[in-house]
Amino acid sequence: MFLLAHLSDVHLAPLPRPTLKELLGKRLSGYLSWCHNRQTMHAREIIDLMVRDIIDIKPDHIAITGDLVNIALEAEFSQAQRWLENFGPGDWISVVPGNHDAYVPVSRNKGIERWHSYMTANIPNQHQTRCFAGDFPYVRRFDDIALIGVSSAIPTLPFVAGGRIGKDQLDGLENILCDLGHQNLCRIIMIHHPPLPGQNHWRKALWDADDFKDVLKSCGAELVLHGHNHTHMFQTTPGPDTAIPVYGVPSASMVTKKHKPPACYYLFEIDKTHQNWSINATMRALSPDESGFEDNSPLPQHQAQT
Ligand SMILES: [Fe+2]
Ligand SMILES: [Fe+2]
Repeated sequence: MFLLAHLSDVHLAPLPRPTLKELLGKRLSGYLSWCHNRQTMHAREIIDLMVRDIIDIKPDHIAITGDLVNIALEAEFSQAQRWLENFGPGDWISVVPGNHDAYVPVSRNKGIERWHSYMTANIPNQHQTRCFAGDFPYVRRFDDIALIGVSSAIPTLPFVAGGRIGKDQLDGLENILCDLGHQNLCRIIMIHHPPLPGQNHWRKALWDADDFKDVLKSCGAELVLHGHNHTHMFQTTPGPDTAIPVYGVPSASMVTKKHKPPACYYLFEIDKTHQNWSINATMRALSPDESGFEDNSPLPQHQAQT
């Protein structure tokens, strides 16, 4: 059995103090939003509790689907790098970026490449594309499990939080899914935005969700994980033979007294029996008194056929 923990939308606090120059452009609206609203929603103490809980649970691997930072300050990328390094090594944690990690264009060496060891392939992959945030899709293989990191993070106009995978990455993803499918692996895709058509208003949507859905329909996958909407989401999408489960997890740092669900993370128990993959999903959620994380009701269970 392979145990995979999934968390998302860390929105690390506290926000480092930006300079006036850094606030020119889109960051200004994001900074004002943080000061007036978001800083009361995302608490560093809660993500710290979650990290301790995950370390106690000892999953085989951890998937983090983006929005580690808030307005893409250089100091935020450094802070998130320290947070990741304290959490665990790069071969235990896999990250894909979110729209807040691409809030404005930042030079690679000062931005997301600080998380490079958490976003690199561990098997050779000729289908990788150089994207805004790095090399995607990347593939990490753990015996019969393959994690595939896709980036939907692109800089956008103020008050727009959409994303795009792009044709090059979609072509690479199609080849990767077909290759790994022929090897009968359990293919798990990590992406920040809810990836299916109609899951968001265009302002927050994945703009090439139709193309992503078509790739899944023709090549298949066993599981898709995402974040972005800060709420529980579940849907299936057709694969070549069976429906593919698509899970969205709430924010990892959300306090209890807001309109969004409090912080939680999902656990996926992945087993192979003969030619069948069984994937059982449960969650651990922040307790009402915010003292720790506790078992919560199971999520829908799926049996994927390969
Ligand atoms: Fe987010
Ligand atoms: Fe997001």
